[in-house]
Amino acid sequence: MSEALARHRAGGKRLLDLTASNPTECGFAHDNETILAALRNPAALRYEPNPKGLESARLAVRLYYSTRGAAISADDMVLTTSTSEAYSFVFRLLCNPGDELLIPAPSYPLFGFLADIQDVKLVRYPLVYDHGWQIDFHSLQQAITPRTRGVIVVNPNNPTGHFVKEKELAKLNELCAAREMALIADEVFLDFALSDARQVTFAGNAGALTFAMSGLSKIAGLPQMKMAWVISSGPEKLKRQAMERLEVIADSYLSPNAPVQLATPVFLAQRHGFQKQVMARIRKNLEGLDRQLALQKSCTRLEVEGGWYAVLRVPAIGSDEELAIELLTKRDVYVHPGHFFDFATEGYLVLSLIAREEEFAEGIRRVLSAV
Ligand SMILES: Cc1ncc(COP(=O)(O)O)c(C=O)c1O
Repeated sequence: MSEALARHRAGGKRLLDLTASNPTECGFAHDNETILAALRNPAALRYEPNPKGLESARLAVRLYYSTRGAAISADDMVLTTSTSEAYSFVFRLLCNPGDELLIPAPSYPLFGFLADIQDVKLVRYPLVYDHGWQIDFHSLQQAITPRTRGVIVVNPNNPTGHFVKEKELAKLNELCAAREMALIADEVFLDFALSDARQVTFAGNAGALTFAMSGLSKIAGLPQMKMAWVISSGPEKLKRQAMERLEVIADSYLSPNAPVQLATPVFLAQRHGFQKQVMARIRKNLEGLDRQLALQKSCTRLEVEGGWYAVLRVPAIGSDEELAIELLTKRDVYVHPGHFFDFATEGYLVLSLIAREEEFAEGIRRVLSAV
């Protein structure tokens, strides 16, 4: 797939990119003046090292959660330069080499690299689809061994778009609390829900030791600013110990830079305009997809509750990768094959719903005419 993509790019032909998920390249308007002005804060000329990150930035993150109804303390938070870095810190905090973490399948393909770097072994637990996605708790329990240190959840998950439900949260708490395992919740897409119902957040979750992570990459569409965070919660003693150790890890790097930390309150405040544009794009692309799907019989899409992706069910005649390569070489359309996200079987393509509307519509037309 990578080789086919490199050849296509080298050939200079136009590509309809239905994997596009870089928010700075999908035609969304940011308030550029405000963003740039926020980076010119004279306070950035002073160095004030703080392992948790500057308090002003942490208070802005706290405010973000309070608007979602989650009460968290800025003292229970560590700022990092990305959610990926937050994962690394938490992996190092919880695991000795060879210890295990449970990850959902299908899900986001970055975990493997992050875990390898920290010598952590990943064990998959399946999500099952039956008119919507849910956690297969039986399989999750069977995947637990004496070396399991925690369960990772992505809420909503990438690419399935499934939000964790209250009942699932209660079960996860029960399981983790009983075995002194931690919950690691990646909530970078939390704000991108298709329904108005209030979604569960793990920030401040009290039922088990919990690390909730998010950042500006998706929430504010500013991945280049490199600002994210991890929030600890749970039983007081476990949380306190975890924070003390997280502080040591964070203090060893002191990663986030001063200008971005100082600008974080402004970046967070301007998320609303960005999120509005993204949700409008996602809704339009989904409607367009459904219109085209209604005209044929071989493909369907799975239900989406939130996030930036849709999963297309396609006939599993060959492998998903062969199909994706064919779409690339013969139709100039780039889609991700399901196996990239650890789907258990063939027959899935993953589409980015934030791709530009005309490109998305034409890309879908070509995909549907090819399968
Ligand atoms: C589920 C999920 N978590 C984390 C990230 C990475 O976020 P960050 O840029 O903060 O490392 C991504 C990026 O696509 C993602 O999809």
